[in-house]
Amino acid sequence: MKALICKTLGLPDALVCEEVPDPQPAPGQVVVEMKAAGVNFPDALVIQGKYQFKPPLPFSPGSELAGVVVALGEGVKGVKLGQSVIASCQYGAFAEKVIVDGRQLIPMPPGSGFDIAASFTLAYGTSYHALKGRAGLKAGETLLVLGAAGGVGLAAIQIAKALGARVIAAASTPEKLAICKDNGADELINYNSEDLRERLKELTGGKGPDVIYDPVGGQYAEPAFRSIAWGGRYLVVGFANGEIPALPFNLPLLKGASIMGVFWGEFVKRQLPDFIKDLTEMFGLIGQGKLRPHISARYPLAQGAQALQDLLERKVTGKVIITNGDAAEVAAVAPAPAPRPAAAVPAGPSADKPMKPGDLAQLVGKEIGVSSWITLDQARVNEFARCTQDEQWIHVDVERAARESPFGGTIAHAFLSLSMIPATMYELLGGKVEVQASLNYGLDKTRFMSPVKVGQRVRNRVNVLALEDRGMGRWLLTTENTFEIEGQDKPAIVATNLGMLIE
Ligand SMILES: NC(=O)c1ccc[n+]([C@@H]2O[C@H](COP(=O)([O-])OP(=O)(O)OC[C@H]3O[C@@H](n4cnc5c(N)ncnc54)[C@H](OP(=O)(O)O)[C@@H]3O)[C@@H](O)[C@H]2O)c1
Repeated sequence: MKALICKTLGLPDALVCEEVPDPQPAPGQVVVEMKAAGVNFPDALVIQGKYQFKPPLPFSPGSELAGVVVALGEGVKGVKLGQSVIASCQYGAFAEKVIVDGRQLIPMPPGSGFDIAASFTLAYGTSYHALKGRAGLKAGETLLVLGAAGGVGLAAIQIAKALGARVIAAASTPEKLAICKDNGADELINYNSEDLRERLKELTGGKGPDVIYDPVGGQYAEPAFRSIAWGGRYLVVGFANGEIPALPFNLPLLKGASIMGVFWGEFVKRQLPDFIKDLTEMFGLIGQGKLRPHISARYPLAQGAQALQDLLERKVTGKVIITNGDAAEVAAVAPAPAPRPAAAVPAGPSADKPMKPGDLAQLVGKEIGVSSWITLDQARVNEFARCTQDEQWIHVDVERAARESPFGGTIAHAFLSLSMIPATMYELLGGKVEVQASLNYGLDKTRFMSPVKVGQRVRNRVNVLALEDRGMGRWLLTTENTFEIEGQDKPAIVATNLGMLIE
């Protein structure tokens, strides 16, 4: 196979594209035939020996790719030959075939080509983690993005717009700013030709941005921080400028502001379930057309060094990718994973052996069971009212409800019963199904049929409607949840719930 190889540390022109032996997977590893690999700023630093980790020479750079699984090492679970996947690695992606850890594969989202899939995880993962996880950016807040036309910068604009924020994009040329505008930026600042502080004052009525996203560093950091709003959050994402800025400690004090570090790679290692949640939410936003990587250039593998050179010379916008194969193949869309037929699932539950999530297929169309009775007493209703800030008298004012409510007293919030789905599912499946994690993330066709008077008891009768193999040990479990009210035929709620079980 061919690979782009770094034999001596230095600038991209020292890279060579040459024939090397095909990689062989060790136990737990997978070989992926690369169709597209995302080019990221750290790749340009790694080959110069300027990044946090330094691979032994010779090596291929490249840390994210999308392609097709062509070989499986011993003991790899939940991955099939021929499957289209997104893969991450520290280095090695700029090659026709790439070795990756079998646990680090993500199935390609339906409807996405290899090109989009290869340019998504790192840039969008970083910006989503920064804006949502670290800064807690809220709808209506103002975000300033520096280096806004770059890979993580454009991702930050799209994510912030999807979260309902107002975005000020700052970049170095009118062409780059036009791309920011096309990707949703509300206001633009050319920090090469305009005074950053003055423009920020004008655009925010003197208040300053609530959140600043900085992947550039250098000379922009201090003026940007001096402009931040009271209680603002400054996200330290990277130093594309090459200079790590220093900041006087009195500035965060004067602004009541926070400086927040963002290290996406470490976040994924240490908080994998949180990353999977981010990814699930981001795939949802891709499906709604709210996120879409802007791919500005494609380079065949043999010209991969040029991609890195253009990145270092600030010539690229959005994402650039290295490709392997013709344009149609690289843009080919992965087919949706086939639902697993119930009959194909072998072992079932037994008293002494916990089920695998896939074994639940035999329960499709059947009842899992009925939970214990749960009393919706006033203390529980009050606590729910406090948490949800829904403190209407009909729920919490016992005296008034006794006088005025058509139900003769307070009633529980309908969402309180609904919120019992996880607890009742843990009761029915806990200890019987072996999972690392489960996420309840969606409701479909929910009907609120009858109010529950405070003090009444409810229980959840659960039927399995569908089980879908989402690949990589992930199972989408769809259940119908009927909340029965003690002593009454008409149920409180009938709701279809979506949960992801992770093997
Ligand atoms: N913390 C994390 O977890 C994490 C994750 C991913 C990336 N990063 C870091 O984030 C930074 C941006 O990554 P990226 O992939 O978005 O890179 P990129 O696409 O090249 O974007 C970087 C932007 O920085 C600006 N820039 C200013 N001075 C520059 C210089 N001397 N050389 C190159 N660009 C310069 C450029 O915009 P203008 O020309 O408009 O100024 C460019 O568009 C990098 O430092 C990277 O290491 C951090």
